[in-house]
Amino acid sequence: MKRITNIAFVLVYVVVLAGSVVRMTGAGMGCPDWPKCFGLLIPPTSEDQIRWAPETNYSEGRMVIERDTLWYATQDHISSDGSFNTSNWAPYTKHDYAEFNAIHTWTEYINRLSGALSGIPILLLFILAIRSRKRTPIILASATLGSVLFVAWLGKLVIDGNLIPNSITIHAVSALAILLFLVGLIQYYDGRKVQIKKSIRAYIYASIVLSFLQLVQGTQVREVVDIALESGISRANIISSLPDWWIIHRSGVWLLIAIHALWAVPMLKMPRFALYAKLVIGILLAQTLTGILFSRFGFPAFAQPIHIVLGFGLILVDLRAVLASKV
Ligand code: HEM
Repeated sequence: MKRITNIAFVLVYVVVLAGSVVRMTGAGMGCPDWPKCFGLLIPPTSEDQIRWAPETNYSEGRMVIERDTLWYATQDHISSDGSFNTSNWAPYTKHDYAEFNAIHTWTEYINRLSGALSGIPILLLFILAIRSRKRTPIILASATLGSVLFVAWLGKLVIDGNLIPNSITIHAVSALAILLFLVGLIQYYDGRKVQIKKSIRAYIYASIVLSFLQLVQGTQVREVVDIALESGISRANIISSLPDWWIIHRSGVWLLIAIHALWAVPMLKMPRFALYAKLVIGILLAQTLTGILFSRFGFPAFAQPIHIVLGFGLILVDLRAVLASKV
């Protein structure tokens, strides 16, 4: 069970990272269709694979880009020996994107694959928890599965074009919920708890609350950033285009450093907690550095996935630390 929980945790974390890379690179259109990619189970790696070729076997749904248009095969057929003609092919009208970029395609594919793969251990955890008839794992595994279903449903609503206010924030918080429940399960199967001072535990609780608020506000900043980028504002000018309230997020880091220092510094000497203490110190430093990259070094795209993955990481380590302790 411990191993399955760890696998599920790593896979969901990869989904968060891949999802962020997809957004950053605009790779979402890397696979025009779903669940296959250009009508293939394993996506194309070179442009040749999506150019029409004579005397070739095409199965229904297979996609090619010809005459700057994306076409899909309306039925299984073998192509003629002449040049491309539209019999057996129809234009794909769900969107007007007709480009092939191997990096976009594979980023999107890894995102989908890790998403689908993570469902397997989560479902397995749910079945095994039910069979164990133990209350805590049943609650945690059901909550994990419920959050996965909610995120998938929300994603589908957004893809289908429904405008949901604060959808990025709701999506991020529910993805975080999956990881938080999995951390709960990891601690449950691990079982080791070490006694700590009441005050130290209170600081960890306070860190969880403040990290959560910082994360939620970060996603609000991101909603504004996305709109600014879409409207054509250059990366170098993003920060100056943000509304004044974004300063709360930028300055919030000092409060987070202070509250984390109160428990992480003394815990550096405690074997059970030293790793968590080092992790939060490292994450806070790295978040500050990526924040500086945003503010002073032109808002580089590569810093965006790092910032969100670390933002999630902070609150997950906080939770692990509090669950591994008792008073
Ligand atoms: C412990 C400290 C911090 C945490 C936990 C944190 C967390 C987050 C999170 C979770 C997001 C949402 C990312 C997304 O949805 O893609 C975000 C966005 C953002 N944060 Fe932070 N952040 C921290 C510190 C900072 C600092 C110090 C700065 C600037 C000096 C900063 C600037 C930003 C900006 C500009 C965004 C929008 C990024 C985007 O559009 O991808 N953050 N933050």
